[in-house]
Amino acid sequence: MNSPTGLEVRLAFRPDGLPTPGDFEIAEVPVPHPAPGQVLVRNLYLSLDPGMLTLMSAEPAVPRPRYELGEVLYGDAVGEVIASADPSLAEGDLVVHRLGWREYAVAGAEVFRRVDPAAYPTPSLHLGFGLVAYVGLVHVARLRPGDTVFVSSAAGAIGSLAGQIARLKGAARVIGSAGSPEKVRNLTGRLGFDAAFDRHDGPALDRLREAAPDGIDVYFDNVGGEQLRAAVEVMNPHGRIAVCGALARQSSGRPDQGPGDLLTVAAKRLTIRGFTVVDHLDKAAEFGQQFRRWLRDGEIVYEETVIDGLPNAPRALTDLLRGAYTGKTVVRLGS
Ligand SMILES: NC(=O)c1ccc[n+]([C@@H]2O[C@H](COP(=O)([O-])OP(=O)(O)OC[C@H]3O[C@@H](n4cnc5c(N)ncnc54)[C@H](OP(=O)(O)O)[C@@H]3O)[C@@H](O)[C@H]2O)c1
Repeated sequence: MNSPTGLEVRLAFRPDGLPTPGDFEIAEVPVPHPAPGQVLVRNLYLSLDPGMLTLMSAEPAVPRPRYELGEVLYGDAVGEVIASADPSLAEGDLVVHRLGWREYAVAGAEVFRRVDPAAYPTPSLHLGFGLVAYVGLVHVARLRPGDTVFVSSAAGAIGSLAGQIARLKGAARVIGSAGSPEKVRNLTGRLGFDAAFDRHDGPALDRLREAAPDGIDVYFDNVGGEQLRAAVEVMNPHGRIAVCGALARQSSGRPDQGPGDLLTVAAKRLTIRGFTVVDHLDKAAEFGQQFRRWLRDGEIVYEETVIDGLPNAPRALTDLLRGAYTGKTVVRLGS
């Protein structure tokens, strides 16, 4: 009888700009047996994150290890324990971990974190980026009831939740930007934003001034670039900017020109604060409790794009950066 095999994705070349499928190698390898202290996990969903493109460069400007040529990519995944040689995890447990981009993962039990299968309607929700949105708004930008909030890449994984959480936390007006008329309609329709604009529809400064005639108090920045400079111009005095991501730079590979005129930043007494969620993991329980209640009570919409099959993951990562998807993008494995 043939021994079982699984697929894994390795980085073959460092992409120049957005990756192409040729930058990856898809390999079929035997499914390993867990040694004492290890467990074997069948991955169910892999999270796709624009930050993965950054990790493919030779010198990623982020505090995480770069992807090495010839090695399997790492990334957040949720899976099911199918064999365990460690008493801390049992067959059937649902776990999250970082050994994504492969159908089967074997490693020491300490690498895997057991999660409650009843917490969410689908295991993929354990890969959601809601905590990033929550800490960026509540603990970094210090959102106050009555604030006007602007969120860029508002149709994406983090942005779609940031806008809705802002409203749930008392924002008076929530504005979003996205990359197509359909996404803009979805923001002001299903997701309940007060106003939205298409980032391709002329200068961001003009669009933002129209959408926020009384200025903005909080900017949740996923993008940087032109939209950050526009936000600085439109911010009210003492406004707060939480810098979550740099999609303009991540998708082009070109350095960001920054927030623009620092005299404006000083004159308005603005705060521009970058953050990374790993510094705020102590807020996971506080967020999780509220998020599950919002979901249960239908107060928040969780949007997800599901791509089937690990071999389609490399192309899906490029399509994600091109703006093809809405909400959180995950790859369903084994189909
Ligand atoms: N701080 C943290 O701890 C943390 C944690 C995780 C992720 N992040 C970062 O947070 C950001 C958002 O992540 P996400 O997963 O929610 O991504 P996302 O918004 O779901 O996905 C990418 C989106 O980027 C937009 N985009 C691509 N090129 C752009 C450009 N030149 N200008 C403006 N928008 C562009 C596209 O949307 P449209 O076409 O609709 O505009 C695309 O849908 C990323 O930078 C990510 O690396 C930060």
